[in-house]
Amino acid sequence: MLDGKPEIWGQATGVLNFPQRFLWGASTASYQVEGGVTEGGRGPSIWDVFTGLPGKIQDGATGEVACDHFHRYPEDVTIMADLGLPAYRFSVSWSRVMPDGKTVSQQGLDHYRRLVDELRGRDIEPVLTLYHWDLPQALEDEGGWRSRETADHFAAYAATVHQALGDRVNQWTTINEPFCAAFLGYGSGIHAPGHTDPAAALTAAHHLLLAHGKAMRELRAQSAPGQEFSLALNFSPALADGHGPEHAEAARKFDGIHNRFFLDPVLGKGYPDDVLADVAHVGGLESAIQDGDLATISAPIDWLGVNYYAPTRVAPLDDPHAPSNCPLPGLRGMDVLPPRGRLTAFGWEQTPGSLTELLRWLNWHTGGLPLIVAENGAAFEDSVDPDDRIHDPDRVTYLAEHLRAVHAAIDGGADVRGYLVWSLLDNFEWSMGYSKRFGIVHVDFETQRRRLKDSALFYRDVIARNAVPAGV
Ligand code: FCB
Repeated sequence: MLDGKPEIWGQATGVLNFPQRFLWGASTASYQVEGGVTEGGRGPSIWDVFTGLPGKIQDGATGEVACDHFHRYPEDVTIMADLGLPAYRFSVSWSRVMPDGKTVSQQGLDHYRRLVDELRGRDIEPVLTLYHWDLPQALEDEGGWRSRETADHFAAYAATVHQALGDRVNQWTTINEPFCAAFLGYGSGIHAPGHTDPAAALTAAHHLLLAHGKAMRELRAQSAPGQEFSLALNFSPALADGHGPEHAEAARKFDGIHNRFFLDPVLGKGYPDDVLADVAHVGGLESAIQDGDLATISAPIDWLGVNYYAPTRVAPLDDPHAPSNCPLPGLRGMDVLPPRGRLTAFGWEQTPGSLTELLRWLNWHTGGLPLIVAENGAAFEDSVDPDDRIHDPDRVTYLAEHLRAVHAAIDGGADVRGYLVWSLLDNFEWSMGYSKRFGIVHVDFETQRRRLKDSALFYRDVIARNAVPAGV
């Protein structure tokens, strides 16, 4: 029964069919949904410590309980099965599997084995991310991502998880959004561990990429037939506010540090020369790079996870050396402008065409690498109606528009193999706490009751039809 948003299909001028075997799914991340932070032998992560600091998180929220997915995963897997989700992207908490970052906890591994078995029992493909920002605090105490050794510890952790779950998980992602882990965690300080040192942010970025490369080596060495390994990067295309070389230069700078800085080394192109020049005055990068690092980082991946939410508008400043209002390492002579048009509750603009352009550019820039949209979605102010339903037409529109954008990119030749909506559940949205709801499934954080939003029903229909309505 396709009861999601019947009018959207009914009024559609047609449907856009996706390729056979297109991988549909939904994403979450350990700290954002699990809770159970002191259970099952889990050790503290940097997010446990950071959320305890005054003034860091809206309303003083923490991930202590979150969606209680640690206990309720069987119920959540049932919801996924009811939605017909072919894939579930989740992350493993390093501090559950290695409470001090180094010593294996069998209890922790067992938890994820149970989760994976539950998924497989429902024919849901597990897409496992090894790192979604929750570094064991014990490693942060030794320097965290500022320390090169953390990359080695990560590789050992990756090998351990693969040894335990490699017989039942085929889709692996090493790291989610090194941009956020490095630049928000060590640069702007709005994420754990909360440091505000641009040089440390660049060092951390290099060590995160190195960790990815070192983990790839371990994973490949243990790989079984049919397994695929990837990395998920977050992209925000830069939209110039005007024409002319100054505007193009502003866009180049932002695109460089936000997008190409992380992508190019993974592709074997090294750090882009223009970005190296932009960040040279900051320090922290050149000194971190050792012989052989770039070869390690460029280990071939099977697909690239593309996380996309919104573009960023930029404009030049008169003085090319004037500090930017955007606290990314090395940015000068340009500002980020307010978003325009329709905004989500996060204040992000809804520009689906940027996703098409991004995927087409990635197809060209990577030489045809398979792509999976590993995160895309939107926060809106949802409310439960008296009929107990959550009518979220804005999210349905956002999803429909962005799915059409993905379809257009495929039409244009990009090898996009899947789409994983962010997020399955409303959850702990980092510095915003529980104030921003991204789920297609509503969570009542008082009672932990789950309710399907209209967007979940819409998405169920998309999956069932392997198609999106062409337009209304
Ligand atoms: C991404 C994160 C994810 C979630 C969304 C909204 O940057 O990977 O955990 O917070 O943003």
